[in-house]
Amino acid sequence: MAVGIFDSGLGGLTVLDAVSERLPDVPFVYFGDNKHAPYGVRDADDVYNLTCAATERLWEAGCDLVILACNTASAAALRRMQESWIPRDKRVLGVFVPLIEALTERQWGDNSPPREVAVKHVALFATPATVRSRAFQRELAFRAIGVDVEAQACGGLVDAIEEGDMILAEALVHSHVDALKRKMPDPEAVILGCTHYPLMQEVFQEALGPEVSVYSQANLVAESLSDYLQRHPDMMGPGMESGFLTTGNPLKVSQNATQFLRRKITFDAA
Ligand code: DGL
Repeated sequence: MAVGIFDSGLGGLTVLDAVSERLPDVPFVYFGDNKHAPYGVRDADDVYNLTCAATERLWEAGCDLVILACNTASAAALRRMQESWIPRDKRVLGVFVPLIEALTERQWGDNSPPREVAVKHVALFATPATVRSRAFQRELAFRAIGVDVEAQACGGLVDAIEEGDMILAEALVHSHVDALKRKMPDPEAVILGCTHYPLMQEVFQEALGPEVSVYSQANLVAESLSDYLQRHPDMMGPGMESGFLTTGNPLKVSQNATQFLRRKITFDAA
């Protein structure tokens, strides 16, 4: 009954934590493609091929349902995977839609035409590949009208977080927030559109000011997954065991993961 959680690296652990808390009886297998992170500077074909390879490994581990806890893969590869690659008995879901449903105050599966929503000025912080894909704006346009989105590509931030260099990460958050504010001085809502960024959520909030609502994905994805599994219990795969797999150096990745989540995490080679 295991479910797979995929990210290019450690960012998806923020999602893993929330889904494990929401669904304590479900075993989760986490796959971090640390060897190839960051994905945010790769082209769409590259992200597609790497994401397919990781997804196949999670299927092998008994996870028929795989969550792409990576916005870059969700933005650059998921649609192509769903259109032509995923077999009938497997599912791959992304992390964008639950976030946009929350921002536009929609219920799960509400497919009514786009309408006006409360927020008008939204800032998106994401990787260069996610920003380039415009997937966020596309998904938002299906649901809301009249929302002005300003996207800030946060070059270097995922690398700094993966390396555990929090001083550099903090400096980068401040400089990307400054750059955003020059384009949109008063955002009403801010989306952290990369699963690595919640690891820096306090720094984002401090740089943005207390009046700005910062949306991050972990809890929203956990709610959506719980709802999905209730409606599709057959998508729980045959795997029975939780685990952590990485394409990187298991020792180094385990150390960084343990530091981020403040609990012992042990990765095995994928
Ligand atoms: N956590 C991934 C995301 O949500 C990081 C992307 C990367 O590897 O650059 O986009």
